[in-house]
Amino acid sequence: MYEFDLVIRGGTVVTAADTVRAEVGIRAGRIVSVGEKLGAGAKEIDASGLLVMPGGIDSHVHLAQPSSGGPKMADGFESGTRSAIAGGNTTVLPFALQPRGAGLRASVMEYHREADGNALADYGFHLIISDPTPSVLGQELPSLVDEGYSSFKVFMTYDDLVLTDRQLLEVFESARTCGALVMVHCEGYDAIRFMTERLERAGKTAPYYHGVSRPQSVEREATHRAISHAELTDVPIMVVHVSGREPMEQVRWAQHKGLRILAETCTQYVALTADDLKGLNMDDSGGKYVCSPPPRDKDSWEAIWEGIRTGVFQTFSSDHCPYYFEGSEGKNSDKARTSFRWVPNGIPGVEVRMPILYSKGVVEGRITVNEFVALTSTNHARIYGLYPQKGSIAPGFDADIVLWDPNRKETIRQEIMHHGSDYTPYEGMTVTGWPVMTLLRGKVMMQDGRVTGEPGDGAFLRRGRSPYAIAQANCP
Ligand code: URP
Ligand code: ZN
Ligand code: ZN
Ligand code: ZN
Repeated sequence: MYEFDLVIRGGTVVTAADTVRAEVGIRAGRIVSVGEKLGAGAKEIDASGLLVMPGGIDSHVHLAQPSSGGPKMADGFESGTRSAIAGGNTTVLPFALQPRGAGLRASVMEYHREADGNALADYGFHLIISDPTPSVLGQELPSLVDEGYSSFKVFMTYDDLVLTDRQLLEVFESARTCGALVMVHCEGYDAIRFMTERLERAGKTAPYYHGVSRPQSVEREATHRAISHAELTDVPIMVVHVSGREPMEQVRWAQHKGLRILAETCTQYVALTADDLKGLNMDDSGGKYVCSPPPRDKDSWEAIWEGIRTGVFQTFSSDHCPYYFEGSEGKNSDKARTSFRWVPNGIPGVEVRMPILYSKGVVEGRITVNEFVALTSTNHARIYGLYPQKGSIAPGFDADIVLWDPNRKETIRQEIMHHGSDYTPYEGMTVTGWPVMTLLRGKVMMQDGRVTGEPGDGAFLRRGRSPYAIAQANCP
């Protein structure tokens, strides 16, 4: 009889806390032992020269969204989670969007129909609340939070999603009551509308002007407003996809004031700039980089690194929001070419989040490898109620593991991506450090770039409450 189903030997185990030469013993999909000279496994993996790290958790991805209306997304749950697995991730947290007029629970069930049986990575859902009626906030939300949908996102912009300040306050208050964590998209709706119309009147409709229509001041103002509303209602919030110094400094100010404000930044804010939106020469290929908030400039990259190093940011996500470039619903459609206003917002990136952060962060000396693990896995698990099931390598955790070659150089190209989009915004970027094997609950899901896992291997995760939200909860 073997002591373990699987033993990983010869590697360096890296967690958010430690870097140690150790072997990992796995039984029934869970880590049962981390130590030296472990007994035999039915299967053994040689990880010599590799880092053995917790599988990535990407807590901000969009898949199959929206399930009705809007331009067609390039990834459903199968291709999106295949891409995640190829990039060293084992868990994703996409969104279940409530269209206006629809119920919250009915919306969640729609996304379950898309996801269940199709995912290769484990998944949970954040809710998106676009219509905070009394029954949504008073009945549906509390019961859904109890059932494992313990976080939700609200928007301060977009025609079909924006909430008024009054609605934001009511939603925040409800989150406090039922112990949910609120993620906030901070960009000011009226300012963007005003700028968009002004630019269009001047004939400035190329994708580049998407960024001009929503400068950092628009994000800074909304970030401050969200923080003030959180202070008023005494509720923690997560400011998502922070793009540069100005909003980052609002978060830092609030944290120093003692408010419980969490923050996320994303790959594009250390790897792309507003100039990318110019395309080759103010042409429509700039649409490939249209996302919100938009990429800023290289000084902003440094501000984001400053926020990462000093702990302003707890999570580093992809905001994977994949659209096609070509085709009638793509970023280069006839309609999209009439104005940046019609270019679908969002870019693919779940597969390259970890390599880009590793290369620019760890290899270039900006963060430690332990901080890398915290930013890509552990903190996501802690904040979103998945700890101690996910996010570390220790007895009791799920055997979600990425074997990482710290020396492997790779050039990011569309032809090696597994996502559904017909392009990658990171085309041609060279990185050092690459995932060579991904294990989900002990099963090999990817080896040397070949995805061996299957749709249905990924399971729904019923999440606990965020410890940040519990600290404030006053649940009946
Ligand atoms: O442009 C983006 N980021 N689209 C995705 C939706 C969102 O706001 O996260
Ligand atoms: Zn409750
Ligand atoms: Zn957003
Ligand atoms: Zn997003």
